[in-house]
Amino acid sequence: MEFKLIKKDPIENKSEVLVFGMFSNERIKGNLLNADKALGNVLARIFEQEKFTGDIGKSLMINTLGKILAERVLIIGLGKRSKLDPDVLRKMAIVAAKKTIPFSKHIAFSLEKVDRKGYLSALIEGMILGCYEFNKYKTNNKNSNGNIRVDIVTSKFGDKLFKSEYEYGKTIAESTNFTRDMVNEPPIFLTPTKLSEIAKEVARLGKLQCKILGKSEMEKTGMGALLAVSRGSEESPKFIHLTFNPNKKPRKSVAIVGKGITFDSGGLCIKPGEQMRTMKMDMSGAACVLGVMKAISKLNPPVTVHGLISASENMPGAKAYKPDDIIRALDGKTIEVVNTDAEGRIVLADALSYAVQLKVREIVDLATLTGACIVGLGNYTAGIMGNNESLINKIINASKLAGEKIWPLPLDDELRKEIDSDVADVKNVGSRWGGAITAAMFLEKFVLETPWAHIDIAGPAFLERGGEWYPKGGTGFGVRTIIRYLLGR
Ligand code: BES
Ligand code: MN
Ligand code: ZN
Repeated sequence: MEFKLIKKDPIENKSEVLVFGMFSNERIKGNLLNADKALGNVLARIFEQEKFTGDIGKSLMINTLGKILAERVLIIGLGKRSKLDPDVLRKMAIVAAKKTIPFSKHIAFSLEKVDRKGYLSALIEGMILGCYEFNKYKTNNKNSNGNIRVDIVTSKFGDKLFKSEYEYGKTIAESTNFTRDMVNEPPIFLTPTKLSEIAKEVARLGKLQCKILGKSEMEKTGMGALLAVSRGSEESPKFIHLTFNPNKKPRKSVAIVGKGITFDSGGLCIKPGEQMRTMKMDMSGAACVLGVMKAISKLNPPVTVHGLISASENMPGAKAYKPDDIIRALDGKTIEVVNTDAEGRIVLADALSYAVQLKVREIVDLATLTGACIVGLGNYTAGIMGNNESLINKIINASKLAGEKIWPLPLDDELRKEIDSDVADVKNVGSRWGGAITAAMFLEKFVLETPWAHIDIAGPAFLERGGEWYPKGGTGFGVRTIIRYLLGR
């Protein structure tokens, strides 16, 4: 996809589709009024007939019948003017992509309302995100979203701001799509080993440090938790550690930790078939970490970033770990296994202990950890929990810029007793109630005093039927938020 900045009146620019945004319940004005005049003052009547009021997400396509240079005009609702923020432009572009991509290769946006940083990049982001499709395995159905031309027709942007907005938006969106691809890959292809190979490639391209631990290195380091979960599988587990060192003096160092269960059958506590389907997505946290590391190597924030991934399958093989097992994590703590299907928190125990040993200032983990979080917040919102309110707030603020929904759940001193074990330091499940919270409080035991936030992305990481703003399957949830958290914008 190629983006171009064009400084002229939009109706004098040739394209297949010319896109205008329109705020709800406002009169036609500005560039759209010019277009309307050229079209013969038809818009007000069409709007009324089609009941188009400019609500967000709504749109209207009109053939221009040769009255202006663009073949069609697409008008997209922006919602209330007072609520305008970059996410509105991101959504406008996603709608534009969905409506035009099936038939069009040359799209133009008329942009006159915004001139500040963050808006144009969000639009570019939305366009690249909106064109996403996973069709690698369709024999005769490859799309060619690569050859699309997008004109940004505006007088508001200089070349310099355009260039920086372009790089920023493109990097974030392409990394998000990269994460989506990994999540959408079938589990026969995307094994822990494959994930580690992708990590190596990310490191090579982005000049990151890369350390991969296999089974024997894990045994030497004492990663008893990740090793236990992997026992039932024929696929070897991997622990992945990527490091980004900024070229300026780092302001802080952080660890971004991802759950990388490339298939979660439940293990011996096996899932019923219905619930096992889609469990290829249980590595979405890991895929998010790789997407973030890919972007960060280009955007260069003044922060040392460690990307850590515990990668394994969770399978019920003859050597599988069992309910009643007691295992020892990297930091020496013992875990009583009550249910082998609560494997995510177990593999994360080693990764979080590893992050603590790196002496980072902040730890953020992303995991498709609990069905309970989906019950509580639904499919479009992630839960956030942690031991440090200011870190949680920083991430929530970043999520607002990113247009991703993240909502806080409380840790609870009374509930914490549920994961006390009679025979070990902690057990891996509590009762049914508050399952997302007890899972987080299990993780809390392994971060000690380090400021830490846990994002449970079980709901939004994968949407079987897609969403208004998301494609079907992997969504890349978290990439956009974590990049903004790391960049501080
Ligand atoms: N990977 C699942 C959580 C999950 C469920 C993610 C649905 C996405 C969609 C996790 O490993 C799991 O199985 N959790 C159990 C925990 C229970 C055994 C305490 C759950 O949520 O049912
Ligand atoms: Mn599970
Ligand atoms: Zn799982």
